Amino acid sequence: MNAIYKTEKHRQMEAKLTDIEEKLQNDKTWQQFKNKIQDYSNHDVSAIVENEDYWKIIRSAYVLDDAILNINHGSINTMPWIVNEALTAYSDLCNELPGYWFFEGFNEEKEKLRKRLANLVGMDAEEVSIQRNTSTAMETIIFGLPLNPGDEVILSNQDYPTLVYAWKQREKYEGIKLHWIDIPMPTENPELLINAYTEQVNSKTKVIQLMQMFNWNGQLIPIEKISNELEGSGVEIVVDGAHMPAHLPVNVSADGSHYWGASLHKWLSAPVGTGIMTIRKDLISKVRPMMAAAEPESNDIRKFETFGIYNMPLELATLTALDFLHLIGLERKATRLHFLKNYCLEKLSDIPGVSTHSPMSKEFSGALGLFSVKNLSPQELQETLFKEFNIYTVGFEYAGISGVRISPNIYHSIHEMDYLIESVFKISKRIHTKR
Ligand SMILES: Cc1ncc(COP(=O)(O)O)c(C=O)c1O
Repeated sequence: MNAIYKTEKHRQMEAKLTDIEEKLQNDKTWQQFKNKIQDYSNHDVSAIVENEDYWKIIRSAYVLDDAILNINHGSINTMPWIVNEALTAYSDLCNELPGYWFFEGFNEEKEKLRKRLANLVGMDAEEVSIQRNTSTAMETIIFGLPLNPGDEVILSNQDYPTLVYAWKQREKYEGIKLHWIDIPMPTENPELLINAYTEQVNSKTKVIQLMQMFNWNGQLIPIEKISNELEGSGVEIVVDGAHMPAHLPVNVSADGSHYWGASLHKWLSAPVGTGIMTIRKDLISKVRPMMAAAEPESNDIRKFETFGIYNMPLELATLTALDFLHLIGLERKATRLHFLKNYCLEKLSDIPGVSTHSPMSKEFSGALGLFSVKNLSPQELQETLFKEFNIYTVGFEYAGISGVRISPNIYHSIHEMDYLIESVFKISKRIHTKR
């Protein structure tokens, strides 16, 4: 193929991508949605947070099953319809000439995504790897860190299971030592949280693993303060930021995290199977890729993306999910999420027989709330809410944590939150009048 023909062909192919972007932008329903949102552009965050008319418009961006009230967005978010539409359009295009699009046609878009994700989390694009979820991101870090037998890692019993399994495998097969702590949560006392980790550091400690936001109850950990305490100690900080992107502002480099991973199918509402990993530039070369790369000691972050063939349209539609986030604005989103979670937990805590187990302040909590009903297991409570009241939540009993988690989304109405509260009231009343 001669060079001129190739260039022309490439331009024709690129035009197909531009065409999809234009079609999405010019979609009538999407335009109308954006215009309606625009009408509220001058509203202050404090005014918008309880403005149900505004959030009703936001709701129209989602296709939902109204027969079920989904209050578990902590596991996976629902994509706005425009993101789903983008996913379908890119998949259709890819299907026309899969090899071309996979090996070359989508490459520039991937680099565009890398830059935009870097902006979202406060890192340089050359420090950002596009992954499939938090588990692959974090396990790439955990298995890739050079550690010797006897080196110690501090982590908590409450850390997320897939990460715990990874560390336990390194302990079993490579003889590193795991140093377990218990997190005193819920708490709004930073000293308690900082000391829980830093008091355990000794001369053999090489790594501390931190959950930026615990999935069980939304507890936030003061990463920056812990990293300041550890400055100069040589201990490296590995952070699970699964719930952070598009939920709360993140600045990985200012926080002092050396290694960081998160999911994009959670609060960014990107397609299922999207995630991000960041590694500080000067540390990339020493981390061994979990999936083998041609140059494993390279300092190019792309060495962590040798997955073989995978579903690339997911990454293109992630660009649309970023557009959606920026249309609403992270500050509005974070404020609404926090408001809905606190609204529920405050009212739930007034119900006889109900206890709540999450921090409430913005400094210490994300929009994941944990509660329990006395004499009812989390499993029973979750099942009753689903079967009898059509409310979908998730129940946990793990490492001393017990309860049902609620994680509302921005499109939920106060009316729906009241329905949850009334349902829990009925369940608790029934249990406690029987006894
Ligand atoms: C704190 C935390 N870490 C890691 C994960 C794993 O995320 P994924 O299933 O997207 O890999 C989750 C999932 O809920 C989580 O909440």
